[in-house]
Amino acid sequence: MPNIVVVGTQWGDEGKGRIVDLIAERVEIVARYQGGGNAGHTIVLDGRTVILHHIPSGILREDTLSVIGNGVVVDPKVLTEEIRGLREGGFRIDSDNFRLSERAHVVMPYHREIDLGREEMRGESKIGTTGRGIGPVYEDKVARRGIKFSDLLSPEVFSKRLLQVLEDRNLYLTRVLGRDEIPFDRVCDEYLEYGRQLKPFICDTTTLLNMGVGEGKSILFEGAQGTLLDIDFGTYPYVTSSSAGAAGACVGTGVSPSKIDVVMGVAKAYITRVGGGPFPTEVEGEPGEKLRTQGGEFGATTGRPRRCGWFDAVALRYSVMINGISGLALTKMDVLSGFDTLKICTSYKYKGEHIESFPSSQEVLWSCEPVYEEFPGWEEDISGVRDMGDLPPEARRYLDAIEELTGVTIWIVSLGPSRDEVILIKDPLG
Ligand code: GDP
Ligand code: IMO
Ligand code: MG
Repeated sequence: MPNIVVVGTQWGDEGKGRIVDLIAERVEIVARYQGGGNAGHTIVLDGRTVILHHIPSGILREDTLSVIGNGVVVDPKVLTEEIRGLREGGFRIDSDNFRLSERAHVVMPYHREIDLGREEMRGESKIGTTGRGIGPVYEDKVARRGIKFSDLLSPEVFSKRLLQVLEDRNLYLTRVLGRDEIPFDRVCDEYLEYGRQLKPFICDTTTLLNMGVGEGKSILFEGAQGTLLDIDFGTYPYVTSSSAGAAGACVGTGVSPSKIDVVMGVAKAYITRVGGGPFPTEVEGEPGEKLRTQGGEFGATTGRPRRCGWFDAVALRYSVMINGISGLALTKMDVLSGFDTLKICTSYKYKGEHIESFPSSQEVLWSCEPVYEEFPGWEEDISGVRDMGDLPPEARRYLDAIEELTGVTIWIVSLGPSRDEVILIKDPLG
């Protein structure tokens, strides 16, 4: 079986969790490589909804090992809650099926406070972050003042490091952001306790994953967020603070690019975005509202209403290029039932000129007008369809158009949130 990266191609929430869960049964290991508690990956199993923030979406598969790689930033408070919730729901989590990298950075209470304080200060120009401390924890990692899970396991190392860092961060919190100080004693005790609880899972996951590759085990690398939120290739500064694209799989786990065989992109049959930033195909008014209602487009982490728009083939072509995508999982096709007309953006218009490729300049992107091709819709509920031949001709035409306009083949069409609500056209695992 190959090693595969499953990556979001839009602004997140494409249904990565649902697609990873679908194929996780047939790989030995599922590894998350970036992001943290900002992610909300939803899986619907036997009518029950499970939302995962840190834990890979392979965890609901009995025999699959779930690994949180070094590139993920982990809030131990949220992670211990997540573990508890899953166990209460009857799912097994132990050191045989779940591991956490000792190199992963810890999200501390001051990261969340700084995130919230900064957003408040930005006012109108806020990014619309999830408030989970993601930007500040990645900043500390790069500034070389971060705290890793290996540090949490040693009271001496952790308390010394926390004392140093907290002095600096408290100055920033109080003097710059006008917020309260974070007390050393309470945080030190609380976080050492998380370290004790998580100890059975913490290990050198890089060696573990590479040993797995050596033994011929297949790994699914699960992306969080999406390519347009990537720190380098997304719509900066309205992005997250990690490498959400497929390339992040290597730095975020320590598995070499030479070991990756397949990259599959996940895209919604339309597009959504949570938070601020340019969004050329955003639809305000009735059709956008209908997409939000029919698609249940409310954030899995924050509950915020997602901004909705028509499928953007310009953005998708860019994602295909950045990630080297060879096949697509197209989700939420069922949500498009009941529209008279569907639109796909084929190019942008900027100062009277047609642009076929995704602009790197934010100034340009804010002013881009979408150029649409229109397609007839269909009325029928298609969630029960399991064969391409049974789809209404209008739906098949829409899928053909996506393939033609993006230059990439659709491997999976998802028609509902449950495991069986899917048409498998080509097996991504070969
Ligand atoms: P992720 O962050 O990429 O894993 O996506 P989210 O879980 O945040 O958002 C996707 C939402 O769409 C979840 O509520 C899923 O249960 C749901 N979903 C996924 N695929 C489909 C589909 O094909 N049809 C419908 N109706 N819902 C879907
Ligand atoms: P999943 O994995 C959708 C967005 C936030 C904000 C920006 C920065 O579920 O697809 P951050 O808290 O990361 O500093 O916020 O990124 N964002 C997401 N949007 N899905 C996500 O994750 C997201 N994670 C972050 O809304 O615009
Ligand atoms: Mg999500």
